[in-house]
Amino acid sequence: MTRNTATPVRRMPVEPQAPAARNGAASPSPRPESFQRAKSTIHFQSAETLYDLWPTPVCIVADGPYGLSGFPGDLHTAKGLVDWYRPHVEAWSARSTPETTLWFWNSELGWATVHPLLAENGWEYRSCHIWDKGLGHIAGNANTRTLRKFPVVTEVCAQYVKPPRFESAAGGTLSMQDWLRGEWRRSGLPLRLANDACGVANAATRKYLTADHLWYYPPPDAFVRLAAYANERGDPSGKPYFSQDGRRSITAEQWARMRAKFQCPAGVTNVWRQPQVSGKQRINGDRQRMQWRYKSLHGSQKPLELIETTIRATTDAGDAVWEPFGGLCPAAICAFRLGRASHSAEIVSEFCRAAVERLDSCRESLDLLNV
Ligand SMILES: C[S@@+](CC[C@H](N)C(=O)[O-])C[C@H]1O[C@@H](n2cnc3c(N)ncnc32)[C@H](O)[C@@H]1O
Repeated sequence: MTRNTATPVRRMPVEPQAPAARNGAASPSPRPESFQRAKSTIHFQSAETLYDLWPTPVCIVADGPYGLSGFPGDLHTAKGLVDWYRPHVEAWSARSTPETTLWFWNSELGWATVHPLLAENGWEYRSCHIWDKGLGHIAGNANTRTLRKFPVVTEVCAQYVKPPRFESAAGGTLSMQDWLRGEWRRSGLPLRLANDACGVANAATRKYLTADHLWYYPPPDAFVRLAAYANERGDPSGKPYFSQDGRRSITAEQWARMRAKFQCPAGVTNVWRQPQVSGKQRINGDRQRMQWRYKSLHGSQKPLELIETTIRATTDAGDAVWEPFGGLCPAAICAFRLGRASHSAEIVSEFCRAAVERLDSCRESLDLLNV
């Protein structure tokens, strides 16, 4: 096995964090414990204390509480999820850019409950992915007479992006679609000339400057052509057009960074048929010590294949991946193998220890099934 040449910084988590002082006396903040291998770091510390220290995320894999009593600290119902997630969502919004994608894992009810909070904080819903664990998940044990419903064998993973907002001359902010139309209008040029600007029959008016739901983001070359045309032929008093700083138009490179990265591998849809982890991938750990009721150490362990798909689709090599609620830290494992820089947090020492051992012993090949 080829090991990374960089010496790993290794400090194993030994004890859970000190509980907060009950009598109001200030308690010293717990010393951060972390383990790093190559560009993947796992912290034995709560995520909310780390966000300010982590680099700007290109991808956030958020697999936190579901309100299903699924792991120590999970809520018992979905009711409290909004209050629980609020500080996290606010921090994700503050630290993200238009290049960032958020993958929000939950039950369907947990996601529906938290969706308004995400929307309120600038996250735009893109798609909902259904993880279908298959019949093996219930193994004939579903007591449908009592439960009065069909057996549930799914979780969801919702994809969100954080589109940029543009300052409006009238005050407030505009979406990219409204801002593009506004800039063209401001130039005083007829809408149809946008097609000439882009050298297309009608794609500019039909896609890039349309007011309806068929709007598309203009690719950087089309955007630059629109801007150059408006600056050359538009009303001289309003120049520069398509600018954010009032001095020069946005460049192709800047424009390219104004949306989230995405590359879809052939054959992947929004239905992910994948059994729950088993065999070599399932981490059993010290269940007896945990007095744990699940077959595996963590009741919510995600298949590496699914996490890998999301990271691969929305990041490039070297990009920062956040995994605020690590569990067994699948994003750290995938990021390590894909050459991304991951930052994971976990507060239960048994989970953190297992995650560290997993990262420490993981091979550097992309053969994710053989962990
Ligand atoms: C749904 S599980 C994650 C499972 C993980 N995706 C996996 O495949 O192993 C959520 C985890 O978040 C941890 N957690 C809860 N609150 C946290 C916080 N504030 N900071 C860091 N981790 C937290 C829990 O201990 C739990 O292990």
